[in-house]
Amino acid sequence: MRVLMVASEAVPFAKTGGLADVAGVLPRFLADLGHDVRVVMPRYYGVSRDQLTVLPHPLGVPMGIVGTQWAQVYEGRLPHTDVPIYFIEHEQYFGRESLYVDPLTHEGYPDNDNRFVFLSRAAIELTRLLHWTPDVFHVNDWHTAATPVFLNTVYRDEPVGRAASLLTLHNMEHQGTSYPGLMDVLGIGWEHFNPRGLEFQGQVNLLKGGLYHATLINAVSPGYAHEIQTPAFGHGLDGVLRDRAADLSGVLNGIDYREWNPAADPYLTAQYDVDEMAGKYACKRALQAEMGLPQRDVPIIGMVSRLARQKGIDVVAAALPRLLELDIQIVLLGSGEAWAHAHFPWIASRHPKRFACRIGYDNALAHRIEAGADLFLMPSRFEPCGLNQLYSLAYGTPPIVHAVGGLDDTVENFDARANTGTGFKTWTLDPAALYDTVGWAVHTWYNAPEAFAGIVRRGMTQRFGWEESAREYEQLYVRAVEHRTGRTPT
Ligand code: ADP
Ligand code: GLC
Repeated sequence: MRVLMVASEAVPFAKTGGLADVAGVLPRFLADLGHDVRVVMPRYYGVSRDQLTVLPHPLGVPMGIVGTQWAQVYEGRLPHTDVPIYFIEHEQYFGRESLYVDPLTHEGYPDNDNRFVFLSRAAIELTRLLHWTPDVFHVNDWHTAATPVFLNTVYRDEPVGRAASLLTLHNMEHQGTSYPGLMDVLGIGWEHFNPRGLEFQGQVNLLKGGLYHATLINAVSPGYAHEIQTPAFGHGLDGVLRDRAADLSGVLNGIDYREWNPAADPYLTAQYDVDEMAGKYACKRALQAEMGLPQRDVPIIGMVSRLARQKGIDVVAAALPRLLELDIQIVLLGSGEAWAHAHFPWIASRHPKRFACRIGYDNALAHRIEAGADLFLMPSRFEPCGLNQLYSLAYGTPPIVHAVGGLDDTVENFDARANTGTGFKTWTLDPAALYDTVGWAVHTWYNAPEAFAGIVRRGMTQRFGWEESAREYEQLYVRAVEHRTGRTPT
């Protein structure tokens, strides 16, 4: 099958979160299954042109009343693969260091709507430029949700309009909401500005348009696929998802074991695996040294996170004063909301022996925290899938999680009597519940080392391979093509 992955970010070229991991890694596994898969994303300033070749013809992208916008297309390969990746270069839209958020205002760029409508349509025009018609456009989140809308409207009578689409939901919180006038930029006709189309509370909502127009929809875990059909997790679009429940499924993300494997991780002081854990202890000592914490044998609780409400960090902040009374150390790496950039370093200055933090984005340190910590804290309010808890399972660092979405699906609660489970869960998210759950994990570490070692072992021997997820995506593509064309793809 021919599949075009359309995404606003992909590793290793540009990343703000797990979406980039999925868009940059899943294609490799689809290619291994024999598919002709290609990727398209913007060329932000941070994407170097060194290894890329420019296509001979420029790409014209109609933008309604804004007029046709011209872009250069650069072609490269996903690392260690033959998978082509195309970068859309447009100075005005993508010639920026930051992907979505203006570094000066900490707000989304005011023209994000136009930027990503442009990307969504550029993906379709690109296939015409390449004379390569995909069977499936695989789009991701609101940024590229307009692609299925375009396929069903302005391209309906063209060969590319027969292509199926799959919309993957990584996060329902961001929806691409804009003023009604965006309809004239989309250029698809005002009849689509209605409650069963792009209209939501008097505004244009690109994600909603995608949800109605995509052939099939999936969320990045079965748990999240279920949750988003409820008001508590649907961010206003739960009714749309209930409408489309028959076409909605969940596929868990995998781990890229080439990047996240403690037995062969170049970022670590020492490597280790489930049968030879001495290296993990060396990693712990090294982490304490790196973070300026005393090298004592107390449990270290690690966190690597966007510092956003989604991740429950406000609850962590509220629970910290009590948590820091325990004989533990906490290590935090993250970036995000402005208040957190001030608050956590201030706590660290007051509790230098127990709490250390780094504000910023640091992939190597993220690896060293996963390896050096004894427990990993991830109390997300909602979590579509979550990758860090998967990494911590693989690194022998049992996760402490709020039982939602992908966290609930991938972490099994410790049961002392049955000696089962891979982590510690809370079903309520407030400072008291967080304190209790961390306290339980810490108590287990101190007082039941054998049981704790069992939790570590079970987590480390579990596999969350992309092979399995890629096969599930393959089945979704087949179903989508069947829906769209009545034919089974070859
Ligand atoms: P989300 O995409 O919602 O942020 P995920 O758990 O799916 O959450 O993915 C987060 C990814 O980003 C992981 O690969 C994680 O290691 C990485 N990450 C997040 N914050 C940082 C940071 N400050 N430094 C390094 N890596 C980070
Ligand atoms: C989003 C979600 C996260 C998920 C990632 C990749 O950023 O917040 O839970 O793992 O997308 O699908």
